[in-house]
Amino acid sequence: MAEKSFKYVIVGGGVAAGYAAREFAKQGVKPGELAIISKEAVAPYERPALSKAYLFPEGKLPGFHVCVGSGGERLLPEWYAEKGISLILSTEIVKADLASKTLVSSAGESFKYQTLLIATGSTVLKLSDFGVKGADSKNIFYLREIDDADQLVEALKAKKNGKAVIVGGGYIGLELSAVLRLNNIEVNMVYPEPWCMPRLFTESIAAFYEGYYKNKGVNIIKGTVAVGFDTHPNGEVKAVKLKDGRVLEADIVVVGVGAIPLTSLFEGQVETDIRGIKTNAFFKTSAPDVYAVGDVATFPMKMYNDVRRVEHVDHSRKSAEQAVKAIYANEQGKSIDEYDYLPYFYSRAFDLSWQFYGDNKGETVLFGDTDPNSATHKFGQYWIKDGKIVGAFLESGTPEENKALAKVAKVQPAATLDQLAQEGIGFASKI
Ligand code: FDA
Ligand code: NAD
Repeated sequence: MAEKSFKYVIVGGGVAAGYAAREFAKQGVKPGELAIISKEAVAPYERPALSKAYLFPEGKLPGFHVCVGSGGERLLPEWYAEKGISLILSTEIVKADLASKTLVSSAGESFKYQTLLIATGSTVLKLSDFGVKGADSKNIFYLREIDDADQLVEALKAKKNGKAVIVGGGYIGLELSAVLRLNNIEVNMVYPEPWCMPRLFTESIAAFYEGYYKNKGVNIIKGTVAVGFDTHPNGEVKAVKLKDGRVLEADIVVVGVGAIPLTSLFEGQVETDIRGIKTNAFFKTSAPDVYAVGDVATFPMKMYNDVRRVEHVDHSRKSAEQAVKAIYANEQGKSIDEYDYLPYFYSRAFDLSWQFYGDNKGETVLFGDTDPNSATHKFGQYWIKDGKIVGAFLESGTPEENKALAKVAKVQPAATLDQLAQEGIGFASKI
């Protein structure tokens, strides 16, 4: 089979790949120089949509493709064609040889590159990884790619007004429970921890969301896990068996028990850390001419003087842009500033919308209206370490307040717990 050769290859066609392509175009990439190789069948899109508007009962998002998620131009396949960027879709790379700068697809095609950008993202952890049997029954879903979302949409149509069990109390668990309720599905949500989203939420923050979800008809079952499934003769899931002995009827199961970065193609060929590919502040890896961005990159977090891996969309966009700028600067013998990232995470579900900036470390102070029954439900929390604000969370903030939130987490002003409890978001707005 003929070998194709490009100056630049991006392996992976998700969020980071799309934002990298836009930056390549800004830097003046020439027709024929850049290829994106993706196992998905569609041009790069804003993955967060898959657990939100893509599953709304009234239909799909009109925006969808990058870079609409950050208010940018929507890059359709025609855009890539106009720029002479090869979008090589439905093509999975199964072998990477960084020494000979060659990638090989599952169909046996070879691709040569001079510079490689690894943007393979993450894949889902499966219940079978935890030894759960029967997790391959029909209508048990994971959600990572557009094909997964399309299959879930079909099941929602087939099981109208049916019953679902959501396994996992993290991002997927909370966003999918909400969107399934909007589809008028009866929802039980199961997770092992004492409260939802323990990765970020304190018990007080979680108490609000759990109360709110309960009011919306989501039944939350904590402190236990799914250990098995009952199946109908046609292979469709019938019930979820829990460790505490309970059995929950289910027409649909959605599992969100975490993600793992897709780095195995490069194992033994690049340095790794925190399960990711280790990079410097320009997303350059230990292998010559190889960069890694988005979910797979373990990078220096300048603000906190440590190294981290971030599985959120804002970083996937910004790391991609930084890497492409660094590639061009390197070619021109110039330098650019080191990546100086302020962590930013968000989620939206029902009519709720929160943002978080900074680090969730240290003491906490809650402010505002945390009553899940109230109409305003505007509240927030600060994290304080060594007398300084290091993290800030806000539910239902205005755009100005969210800007203030980002600023306060970046500036890290000194503050006392009492002062913050009294002033709430007003403190951030003064900075
Ligand atoms: P991403 O996963 O976007 O892309 C990786 C691409 O590489 C995929 O197209 C994949 O098919 C391809 N690929 C992998 N291996 C390959 C191979 N061997 N050959 C070819 N192609 C290969 N974050 C946030 O901050 N707010 C939010 O609301 C959400 N919401 C959200 C919803 C859902 C359903 C998910 C799954 C994730 C989110 N996220 C999020 C997280 C965010 O979407 C995620 O951090 C970014 O998509 C990461 O971007 P990457 O480009 O690194 O990976
Ligand atoms: P997560 O890490 O957010 O949550 C995993 C959850 O799984 C844990 O909180 C726990 O409740 C649960 N869990 C762990 N083991 C379990 C078990 N054996 N049985 C039942 N529950 C178990 O992961 P996720 O929600 O699956 O999200 C996957 C990826 O997608 C992550 O990278 C996440 O950052 C990303 N994502 C982000 C957003 C967002 O930023 N708004 C939205 C959706 C997805």
